[in-house]
Amino acid sequence: MTEDNRIVAGEKQDDTETSVEQSLRPSRLSTYIGQTALKRELSVYIRAAKKREEALDHVLLYGPPGLGKTTLAMIIASEMQVGIKTTSGPAIEKTGDLVALLNELNPGDVLFIDEIHRLPKAVEEMLYSAMEDFFIDIVVGQGPTAHPIHFPLPPFTLIGATTRAGLLSAPLRDRFGIVGHMAYYNTTELEQIVKRSAKILHSPIQEEGAHEIARRSRGTPRIANRLLKRIRDFAEVSTHHDSIDRAIVQQALQMLQVDDEGLDQTDVKLLETMIRFYDGGPVGLNTLAANIGEETDTVAEMYEPFLLQKGFIKRTARGRMVTPLAYEHLGISPDKK
Ligand SMILES: Nc1ncnc2c1ncn2[C@@H]1O[C@H](COP(=O)(O)OP(=O)(O)OP(=O)(O)O)[C@@H](O)[C@H]1O
Ligand SMILES: [Mg+2]
Repeated sequence: MTEDNRIVAGEKQDDTETSVEQSLRPSRLSTYIGQTALKRELSVYIRAAKKREEALDHVLLYGPPGLGKTTLAMIIASEMQVGIKTTSGPAIEKTGDLVALLNELNPGDVLFIDEIHRLPKAVEEMLYSAMEDFFIDIVVGQGPTAHPIHFPLPPFTLIGATTRAGLLSAPLRDRFGIVGHMAYYNTTELEQIVKRSAKILHSPIQEEGAHEIARRSRGTPRIANRLLKRIRDFAEVSTHHDSIDRAIVQQALQMLQVDDEGLDQTDVKLLETMIRFYDGGPVGLNTLAANIGEETDTVAEMYEPFLLQKGFIKRTARGRMVTPLAYEHLGISPDKK
């Protein structure tokens, strides 16, 4: 399967640039579906900060890809009625790059750093004082003439997003006043997202069709939207369907090789590899990734969290293990592997 065809993986944020994707992104807290507890919390902090005419405290958003971290960062800026500068950990190579970004901020603005766990160490260290006391010390000149300059910054809000909170250093994590864990969405929430997106795409959809897509979207809005777009194509060329109903969803997902629980070929390959080559585990993540020809990071970020959440694998001190539920789902008997 080529990278383009993938439902689950795909280049990070490959879909954020197109105008269709942009139109599907909710732009207000009130139209952002799900993450109820986090939304309620944020709405209090946003109102309080606005009332005090202060910058919002720094926000860390963490959770699996496609759950709406970037979307939420943009919503926070728009609800605060401030500007937002967007960058990512690997894009800030030198401290000078960070200085340039910070220098452009207006008071109260949001600096959004995606993949914040991938910041170079020196840049991260410079962020500490910037976040805590709104200043940075830069060294100018070289050799004997080198001297530090104390550079005050306007108050700003750093929003960091990461799929790997465990890789964040403690000093950085501790500087975020607001920490939001993004949870997988339930079927009802995804159903609302699918219906909202279908409306934006002018694609008629039936209740049962939306439900079926929601159920098989791995708890992930990005995947729900991707499936919807593919299935819409199937529905449009079909002579029997004038709207997206359950039957066309089932047909399309069969062709896309997404199974009844939303598992794709890679998920199945991963589970089958664990069963056939490692007696169901325990097996380490690196070994597993190598066996199925995927990057360890991809398995750790995209596949493992979903399979854990589904209860198909579990983590042990010695590695990952397949659960009886997975055997049952794959129709493999645990005795004759
Ligand atoms: N709560 C939501 N309500 C409706 N649509 C949503 C919601 N969250 C996300 N989406 C949709 O899912 C898409 C993916 O969301 P987003 O890009 O914000 O995810 P992300 O967490 O930043 O992913 P990554 O970790 O890959 O950067 C968005 O374009 C948006 O259309
Ligand atoms: Mg993102």
